[in-house]
Amino acid sequence: MDKFIINGGKKLQGDVKISGAKNAAVAIIPAAILADGPCVLENVPIINDVSIDLKILSKMGAEVKIINNNTIQIDAKHIKDSVVPYEMARSMRASYYFFGALLSKFNHAKVSMPGGCDLGDRPIDQHLKCFKALGADYVIEHGLVDISAKQLIGTQVYFDKVTVGATINAILASVKADGLTILENAAKEPHVVDLANFLNSMGADIMGAGTDVIKIRGVNKLIGTRYSIIPDQIEAGTYMVAAAATRGNVTVRGIIPKHLEHITSKLRKTGVTVNEFDEFVQVIGKNEPYDRINIQTLPHPGFPTDMQPQFAALLTIAQGTSIITEGIFDNRFKYVDELRRMGADISVDGKVAVIEGVPKLSGAPVKAADLRAGAALVIAGLSTQGKTIIEDIHHIERGYEDIVKKLRLLGADITKKTRYESDSIGKAL
Ligand code: EPZ
Repeated sequence: MDKFIINGGKKLQGDVKISGAKNAAVAIIPAAILADGPCVLENVPIINDVSIDLKILSKMGAEVKIINNNTIQIDAKHIKDSVVPYEMARSMRASYYFFGALLSKFNHAKVSMPGGCDLGDRPIDQHLKCFKALGADYVIEHGLVDISAKQLIGTQVYFDKVTVGATINAILASVKADGLTILENAAKEPHVVDLANFLNSMGADIMGAGTDVIKIRGVNKLIGTRYSIIPDQIEAGTYMVAAAATRGNVTVRGIIPKHLEHITSKLRKTGVTVNEFDEFVQVIGKNEPYDRINIQTLPHPGFPTDMQPQFAALLTIAQGTSIITEGIFDNRFKYVDELRRMGADISVDGKVAVIEGVPKLSGAPVKAADLRAGAALVIAGLSTQGKTIIEDIHHIERGYEDIVKKLRLLGADITKKTRYESDSIGKAL
């Protein structure tokens, strides 16, 4: 298994450029197959989940061209198949966006039940509820969901739970349906808005994205477009917390400050200085102990659940008792055992973690349980004297473009060891 080796205790200093948003890219790439002509996407993050999406498109017959590092062209006119290769789809959560996109394009989709981070129960009942309301039927067998419709007809759907995935899939499935679709209790995340803006740039008629009522009037034709993906608010937040945890001074560039409101305000509450500008924020840590805070994760515009593990890593070395309540997923505390190996004092009861701050952690061998849990371990390792070895880093590389390069440019001592090199390290230790 590949590993990160971190020799921590160094302040992060300097500038970091944020990449395109993973959770927008994995929705927009499947959506591109709805265009009658080529789509050019800019600011695409080159991460594992995006690579899998592009491989799925190529396998299905789309023409995918890498124009330059972060600009790709997708021409889906030759896609004839509405079945997504099982193993590829199985490996990530966002493959379920092919349900909505293929249903819109072919009135049929056959995709595996999604994989992705193990955060507890992650059903797709709200996705299926919406497809049925639009006139589709489905069968689930052999791990595949086979959905088909004679015709997709506009409808009204009230989501029982605020769900990003189901909101996005509902938009994808209704954008070419016959008539008006109204989604109520819809998710309002920035990547929902980004997808709607992308589809509208192709000729769709979507109103209200970013609010809890989204109206989609079906259109017959969607044309090719050029579109730039929004910056990743979670990647930005991760570097902001890393700057604080290492008591450094980091300028995080290429961001939309409004998307970082909660992260900024929570960091300021711990005593970190955050200076906000039009397209960047400057985060200045301090040498004195940080203040404890409480966090409750909620759907946007509440505090983002994808920033919960990273803040927990910071709060392990704050002064006093912090309480984190996970309001979205059943089990997003898998990183706690690993932080305990580093000396953190955390107790978990269901969806609540109580963190007793300690003066410092110590480097240790740890394992990334999922994407953001891995990010939390990187932050903890960077903030701590001594060597931290992080295994299962494939989770981390799913969502952070060039993380080793970006951190090294900020002064971090972090290296990636491949399986072969790791074996030789093992022998040397
Ligand atoms: C998306 O996951 C993101 N993933 C997650 O980011 C993010 O944590 C999550 O939204 C919440 O913001 C992608 O965009 C690829 P949900 P998703 O549907 O769509 C329940 C990361 O780290 N639910 O909003 O799966 C569900 O169990 C990843 O980048 C149903 O009950 O999240 C959860 O409790 C992790 N039925 C809640 O809703 C459904 O049909 C929110 O899930 C769907 C969801």
